[in-house]
Amino acid sequence: METKNKFLIREEEFFLISKMVKELTGISLGKRKNNLIISKISSRIMDNNINGIEDYYKFINSRRGNDERIKIISDITTNVTEFFREKKHFNYLDRLLRHDFYRDAYSGEEIRIWSSACSSGEEAYSAAMTAVESLSGLPSKTIKILGTDIDPEMIGKARSGIYCKNHASKIPSEKFNKFCVNNIDTFSMSENIKGLIIFKILNITRDWPFQSKFHAIFCRNVSIYFDKQTTDLLWKRLSSRIHLNGEIYIGHSERIPNSQELGLRPIGTNAYKKVL
Ligand SMILES: C[S@@+](CC[C@H](N)C(=O)[O-])C[C@H]1O[C@@H](n2cnc3c(N)ncnc32)[C@H](O)[C@@H]1O
Repeated sequence: METKNKFLIREEEFFLISKMVKELTGISLGKRKNNLIISKISSRIMDNNINGIEDYYKFINSRRGNDERIKIISDITTNVTEFFREKKHFNYLDRLLRHDFYRDAYSGEEIRIWSSACSSGEEAYSAAMTAVESLSGLPSKTIKILGTDIDPEMIGKARSGIYCKNHASKIPSEKFNKFCVNNIDTFSMSENIKGLIIFKILNITRDWPFQSKFHAIFCRNVSIYFDKQTTDLLWKRLSSRIHLNGEIYIGHSERIPNSQELGLRPIGTNAYKKVL
């Protein structure tokens, strides 16, 4: 492998990089040489004074390579997100909770929402703020939100619930006043909202260590990094984890091609309802 800006890598090296990225994250590099990812991996190889990709691959698969594995996952994932991104989905969630599940929640059923590639947590917190308002009048412990992501650094950030002031503009001001606390240069999510969410590290392409079903699942802007086989399997597994009448929200450039077979009915912009 050459210097980090040249990307003159041999086919076998690229093959090994692709294999490593797929094994670590489920992300498919395809045939295109993704210079950004190659550059990041090259930097990690150099920082560790390792000779090349083969030795690096062995290293991260050894017990000594545990910390390095976390670093490389953080480096190769794209974590862009924001509060109330694709706002329509939070309007759908509000409608879902008020119209389809309010009565169940009123009778004591837990309302469960999963933000399955939650990055630094904004999606899960946006869902929590929405759900508290949609189910107003009910005890907030009715709401259980799971936020998961493969990137441990992002999960750490999500758990802290602390964000830069300039991210606040995406939160409607009445929600901000209700659910957020101003610090000097940052703001924090209130303890009430934090208490509704559990954040966990999870590779969504691997086994899920829970059996529960959800009333709503956000799986947005992550399948775009996977190959077709991985994505098809993901939709299938997710659809089996949604309650009847529950909904799944996916990213703006994502689609569930065989939604009907999975018992999912399209209900709006990149949103599906479980009907069977
Ligand atoms: C572009 S962000 C999307 C965040 C949020 N869902 C949104 O739409 O704003 C993609 C996230 O997917 C995560 N990710 C990538 N591969 C993953 C995997 N196999 N399992 C779980 N999360 C993954 C990344 O760490 C990153 O935080």
